[in-house]
Amino acid sequence: MSYAKSIIDDIFGGIRPAARALNKPASTIQGWYEAGTIPQKHWTDIMAMATQFGHKLSADNFFDATDSTAAMTRQQPSSETPLVPEMHGYSFDKPHCLSIPDFHRVDIENLLELGTRYLDLSVQKSPREGPLRGKTLINLFFENSTRTEKSFELAGKRLGADVISMNIGSSSVKKGETLLDTATTLNAMNPDLLVVRHGASGAPALLAQKVSCSVINAGDGMHAHPTQALLDALTLRQAVGNIDGLRIAICGDILHSRVARSNVQLLNMLGADVRLIAPPTLMPIGAQRWGADIFHDMKTGLEGCDVVMMLRLQLERMNGAFVPSKREYFHYHGLTREKLAFAKPDARVMHPGPMNRGVEISSDVADDSNISLITRQVEAGVAMRMAIL
Ligand code: NCD
Repeated sequence: MSYAKSIIDDIFGGIRPAARALNKPASTIQGWYEAGTIPQKHWTDIMAMATQFGHKLSADNFFDATDSTAAMTRQQPSSETPLVPEMHGYSFDKPHCLSIPDFHRVDIENLLELGTRYLDLSVQKSPREGPLRGKTLINLFFENSTRTEKSFELAGKRLGADVISMNIGSSSVKKGETLLDTATTLNAMNPDLLVVRHGASGAPALLAQKVSCSVINAGDGMHAHPTQALLDALTLRQAVGNIDGLRIAICGDILHSRVARSNVQLLNMLGADVRLIAPPTLMPIGAQRWGADIFHDMKTGLEGCDVVMMLRLQLERMNGAFVPSKREYFHYHGLTREKLAFAKPDARVMHPGPMNRGVEISSDVADDSNISLITRQVEAGVAMRMAIL
């Protein structure tokens, strides 16, 4: 039986009940039933409705078990694994990657699956044969970055793209050129991908309207850092397993953190129980509406947590004193072994970097590879960005 038939019959109880549940004409459902396939744009709605019928579907359920192409997408990678793995029947239809809510669950699942495969494929040996050969990627970083910029550069090169990293310090921006003038100039060079980091929230979205290539948000102000959230999810899937049902605490300077915002959105989408822990001065007003439980002290906040995600005090975004002193901040909110003991015994620790040791995290926690996933996050960063590119 085709997957479409089994979803319609086994989950919804036939064509008419499925039509009612999905608010579609019976003829549409009949069409899927006869074709044996369901167009990808309906998958998210079907997955959401299936949960109300007590069934949990993933993108995998939209393939036939006997389908050889689908089977191939699930096999272990080998040296023969194609560099653009087939995503049977699935096409990614978003031109840009700007923030997590732009994606459906199925997009996220497919990106994570692709990221997993790139993680397994490891280093691409012959970039000249890569799927991005002949394409140009411009890294446009208006804010400092080590991990993000370098991982996009490496990811682009491993896929065969020509990669240019713009050093904003030496570009015309320093001479007063506006963001949009820079974008117009770069656009005239016909890049295929523009990876943008900017101190102003919304800058990559604005650029996306003005250029004719794909724009990837590599962090904008305090707004979003979708590729970081995706690489964090990939790290968790690899190290811990299913994210659904995990209790995850994000701790520290939530107020100034685009990482926290994108992670709350993505982790919620993947079914985690998300907590935010910060002193009141570093907790954004209205954070309780983000879909996370709010705590101000580490002891109660970390209770029962499977994962503890630490954040840097982002002094460059602070326009006043938000904490009495770094020493006092470390005393109350810095992650030490003693505070980690409030979480589950096997809790894992994450940090997007760069770390301020002795401010938000102690070195013995950060460097203990039995608990810290920080290096694995960097590794996942390249693979995840290959998938996104
Ligand atoms: C984060 C960022 O830039 O938002 N870092 C990163 O991308 N690796 C977090 C931070 O700067 O503290």
